[in-house]
Amino acid sequence: MIKIVDCGSQLTQNIARRVRELGVFAEIVPFHTSTREILKDGLEGVIISGGPFSVHDEGAPMYERQILTAGLPVLGICYGQQSLAHLLDGKVVSAENREYGETQIHIHKESRLFEGIPRAEFRVWMSHGDVVQGVPEGFRVIAKSKNNHIAAIQKDHIYAVQFHPEVDHTEYGRSMLDNFLKVCNARRDWEPEREYDRIVSETTEKIGAKAGVGGISGGVDSSTLSVLLRKIAGRRYHPIFVDNGLLRLNEVEQVKASLEPFDLGVTYIDAQARFLSKLRGVADPDEKRKIIGHEFIRVFEEQARDIPQTKYLAQGTLYPDVIESVPVYGASSKIKRHHNVGGLPEDMKLEVVEPFRRLFKDEVRAIAESKLGLPKEIVWRHPFPGPGLAVRIVGEVTEQKLSILRKADAIFIEELKKMGIYYKLSQAFAVLTNVSSVGVMGDEQTYQGVIALRAVTTSDFMTSDWYDFPKEQMTHIANRMINEVNGVNRVVYDVSQKPPSTIEWE
Ligand code: XMP
Repeated sequence: MIKIVDCGSQLTQNIARRVRELGVFAEIVPFHTSTREILKDGLEGVIISGGPFSVHDEGAPMYERQILTAGLPVLGICYGQQSLAHLLDGKVVSAENREYGETQIHIHKESRLFEGIPRAEFRVWMSHGDVVQGVPEGFRVIAKSKNNHIAAIQKDHIYAVQFHPEVDHTEYGRSMLDNFLKVCNARRDWEPEREYDRIVSETTEKIGAKAGVGGISGGVDSSTLSVLLRKIAGRRYHPIFVDNGLLRLNEVEQVKASLEPFDLGVTYIDAQARFLSKLRGVADPDEKRKIIGHEFIRVFEEQARDIPQTKYLAQGTLYPDVIESVPVYGASSKIKRHHNVGGLPEDMKLEVVEPFRRLFKDEVRAIAESKLGLPKEIVWRHPFPGPGLAVRIVGEVTEQKLSILRKADAIFIEELKKMGIYYKLSQAFAVLTNVSSVGVMGDEQTYQGVIALRAVTTSDFMTSDWYDFPKEQMTHIANRMINEVNGVNRVVYDVSQKPPSTIEWE
């Protein structure tokens, strides 16, 4: 196993995913974890992540120096290189020419880190203001950037790089991580399909002959969970689907159709009226999320109480949900509230079963496809937030606005599928803004709603970029919306990156 010491980088999860893709199990621990704690569990190597700090900042994340001197292979990345140099008495200074984005590096010395890389000069992705100016004793510089900054250093089995090998923009990034794993002599025994067998036996043991409940939304996590538990527990597992009235056009029918072959025995609850009446007059996004979260739990609880002998609640919790996160923006900054099945009331006393706690979403997808035979439209469905269309209608939610948004969104998704783009995107949807605009239709002046379209690509949903549509495609989509959806006379496209914007509008 490899442990990744997280110093607050947005890319820490990418490192773990890359290492796992190379067949080695990787876990993330916060920087303040003790060396003793880090070194247990048959550890084979340590990677120190990047982070948005300078080693000279007050309160900059610092792990224990002993991690570097424990005799295990270490790879420092970006801030990981700077902090490693700092802790070993090297010199880190603020750079005159900061390096952000792509740059070239040149390999100066042979090193196992660069084995198999066919060129001495190649492109890497950097994002740093500080640089290592004086290397710690015994270290040698093995690569420099075109600005003559130190790009990589090494002493025995301790390596550090200023760039990010875990992102796709870095050429040979995977090879360098693979080479580091070779240095670690790490066992290549991680694959989601093999993990599946462990999940099945652990879950079988945990639930025995007990009855359980869980939510199902038609998304990949909850669907995979339900299919898995149907296999293990048969009819003793009861998936519950709550229609909160905030779903997309024909969504319930579509979910029913795609899950039908699995005979899951889903209980569908039509709670549309309850949710919509609770949301009447509410415009604040946090308030909407809170109301929907609470109402969901109440509906779910009422239903679950009717199932006799229920002993456990199954949840599709993933590894990113359980990682103890290092605050990046400072403790005081307000981060958008995410409200899902927050937990059932204390007095229900259900044991929580979370078979996917160790997995990333791409690993759940691999299991869903290869082990459980879930169809593509579920496995690769874009994520849809728990509060549904309520956070895609800016301001108060009404039946009329829901109806406009449903039609516009359905046109967008239908066109994306026809154009062969849907599965290239990470998420795409329409938003009903709370703006009305003037238009002309025939000889008439109109004053109607404005739809905003969002289409993003991302590997982790922590950062994202907007998708650059060819003009004809966008024009076609916008024309269809304006012609076919009553109440819409203007379509705009959201070209904001995350950060600073979020993916959803609310
Ligand atoms: P943001 O808007 O924070 O979204 O950039 C990142 C990802 O999270 C989804 N999202 C939510 N999912 N409940 C959810 O289950 C929520 O309240 C919620 N808010 C955002 C969003 O769709 C995107 O995939």
